[in-house]
Amino acid sequence: MNNSKENHTLTRTEIMTWLRERDEKRLNVLWANADSVRKLNVGDEVHLRGIIAFSNHCNRTCQYCGINALNKDLIRYAMTQDEIISAIREFESFEYHTVVLQSGEYPGIKRDWITELIKRIKSETNLAITLSLGERSESDLAEWKAVGADRYLLKFETSNEKLYESLHSENKGSWRKRIEMLQTLDKLGYEVGSGIMVGFPGQQFDDLINDLEMFKELNLDMIGIGPYIPHPATKLGKDFKPATVDAKQVPNNKLTTYKMIALTRLTCPLVNIPSTTSLAIIAVDGRAGGLTRGGNVVMPDLTPETFRRHYDIYPSYHREHFNTDNYHHELMASIRSMGRRISSDSGVSLKFKTRNIKISNNDN
Ligand code: 5AD
Repeated sequence: MNNSKENHTLTRTEIMTWLRERDEKRLNVLWANADSVRKLNVGDEVHLRGIIAFSNHCNRTCQYCGINALNKDLIRYAMTQDEIISAIREFESFEYHTVVLQSGEYPGIKRDWITELIKRIKSETNLAITLSLGERSESDLAEWKAVGADRYLLKFETSNEKLYESLHSENKGSWRKRIEMLQTLDKLGYEVGSGIMVGFPGQQFDDLINDLEMFKELNLDMIGIGPYIPHPATKLGKDFKPATVDAKQVPNNKLTTYKMIALTRLTCPLVNIPSTTSLAIIAVDGRAGGLTRGGNVVMPDLTPETFRRHYDIYPSYHREHFNTDNYHHELMASIRSMGRRISSDSGVSLKFKTRNIKISNNDN
């Protein structure tokens, strides 16, 4: 395999062979290639992003997600702007250069309120701002960009339109709308992050190959890949049966997630790839495993404990104790022990930098 910068191509057959591979020795070749493509293109720096999940109100009914509107047992919360700013202040002294403002998708979160919050964060800190608020109108997104938002995260979850719509039964056409929003974000000048879940019911290996193609087509700057974790408060989670070996169903395990991270690094060498929290939750060595198979970003949840325990998108999310001094020191030490550096800048995606150079050249 050649490790040249950009344009690494794998055929669908080669990808399928990797996705079905179980031989550890051969898989070590995949891991080593992904790691060297990562090093060659985005280097040894690991970018830390602090997530503030400031509200769990949501009016979507995504069947995999524990904070969906149908979950009536969940205590709903919304942090005030002062609470958000003081939570950010707590992690400023560690090496975070980006805050991710995350919430359920909820019309009660008003455009002006977010505008005001972005302005405050930009005037009071040096942090880059990533928004992750679900689907919003083009005018909301344009205004937030104008006042300083840098990035937006919106997972398309799967390239399989029918499968997506079967999990979001409330509105037909919802998958297409999501894809269009990713294109709108690009047009507005956001750094665009998206991604998928691995192994939710109905997902097949061909879907994963299509996901990889879609990552390229959408020109994404950041790609997050995590295992599906069944949530007992959802119908999908209650009825969940793990995939059997050789089944068409993609398993929701560490190995398949690693493969998708590695294949994403090979096919999209310049993008930022987080080693996701869901991966760290299903396996103690998941965070390090993701970072050595193509990942270059870690996104700990720094929401204050009183709120975070209710941000119950998947089980045990709230049990991770991210927000302690010990946690930060251990995280930084473990990254350094892997021979990697903690980034001292906000970690703008190289993909974003290069595509914007191309755009401005075209303009001349
Ligand atoms: N397992 C794994 N990831 C999940 N998400 C939501 N529910 C689950 C789950 N059960 C992820 C989705 C979504 C984000 C909010 O969290 O990718 O986009």
